[in-house]
Amino acid sequence: MKMNKMEEIWMIVAIVIIVIAMSITGYQAFAMGMSPPSHKEHIDPQTVEEHPEFSEPGVYETGDNEYEVIMTLQAFQFEPSEISVPEGAEVTFRMATKDVVHGVNVPHTNLNTMVIPGYIQEITQTFNEAGEYIMVCNEYCGTGHQMMSATITVEE
Ligand code: CUA
Repeated sequence: MKMNKMEEIWMIVAIVIIVIAMSITGYQAFAMGMSPPSHKEHIDPQTVEEHPEFSEPGVYETGDNEYEVIMTLQAFQFEPSEISVPEGAEVTFRMATKDVVHGVNVPHTNLNTMVIPGYIQEITQTFNEAGEYIMVCNEYCGTGHQMMSATITVEE
């Protein structure tokens, strides 16, 4: 096959770029373990309230300065909507939605995820600074979306 010299050079450049990009992504995913914060736990969104874990949303102490927040989401509220933990606590949020996709974001922290119907979402955050944090839904979920929020109080 006869090919123009420039065409040949650019084809090689394109292949090299693709190989480099795939190697970086592959290294991050497999060697560094970077992946989305999800662990494929299923839940029936229609029966979240009857689920043994999610029937009683709340804040539970699970260890030495370790807490678990069992949270349900629905248009347009987080339950519990007032969370209180001590400073430095490692808080694991286990969340399930009863209706549509909701977002969970606590500004100025790394806590930012989606909660999708049918899946249990888990995300851990350590709150090192005392104060009041706001948790907002950042995924449009209906006419009351902008009112969907909760507060996290980190006590000294
Ligand atoms: Cu829930 Cu927007």
